[in-house]
Amino acid sequence: MFTAEKAGMMRKVDFMDNISFCRITSETDEKIFDILSELDKSCVGADGWTAESFKSESAKDNGIVICCYVGAFVIGLISGYFASDEADITSVAVNFNYRRRGIAGHLIAEFENQLPEYISEIFLEVRESNFPAVSLYKKCGFENLHTRRNFYDNPVENAIVMRKELKKSNNK
Ligand SMILES: CC(C)(COP(=O)(O)OP(=O)(O)OC[C@H]1O[C@@H](n2cnc3c(N)ncnc32)[C@H](O)[C@@H]1OP(=O)(O)O)[C@@H](O)C(=O)NCCC(=O)NCCS
Repeated sequence: MFTAEKAGMMRKVDFMDNISFCRITSETDEKIFDILSELDKSCVGADGWTAESFKSESAKDNGIVICCYVGAFVIGLISGYFASDEADITSVAVNFNYRRRGIAGHLIAEFENQLPEYISEIFLEVRESNFPAVSLYKKCGFENLHTRRNFYDNPVENAIVMRKELKKSNNK
């Protein structure tokens, strides 16, 4: 468990009591996976991950799943993995009632903090129409790389592939 103060971005959430971030490990209570799936589906609908998907991602040596809590209540999540010298962010979601307070920005900063030092870039895909998410990623230093046509189903939509280069001085 680590607190917002350690997450590298002090903006907006530092006034909130009891906020903490926690990477899921094999020690974490299994109930967390249903909670993460429920949160993800409530945020992105049909694109949301199942409990099994979160469980298998966090169980991989190269998987990273981080929750944001207010007290014992899960209000945000990020998941992804790394391979070779690259990382991929696969999900980011924040409870509707806690948005625009910097939670997602903190989650992305924590994801970066958890990566091994040899990782040099992060990739992600986002629905072309998802203005809040695209804005978030740009603010966090991601740039548009290219478009994958009709990448998503329900509804069919293009994906923007975004990339962030990790500066060596920012790596651990
Ligand atoms: C996208 C999402 C994760 C952002 O979470 P959040 O905690 O509200 O984001 P933050 O507060 O950290 O926002 C950081 C920056 O992102 C941008 N941003 C976030 N939400 C935005 C919105 N609704 N409109 C415009 N810009 C937005 C802003 O630049 C914001 O900085 P600011 O508040 O100082 O202007 C959240 O809206 C969400 O869960 N959406 C549904 C799930 C989703 O689409 N996930 C991404 C799938 S690829």
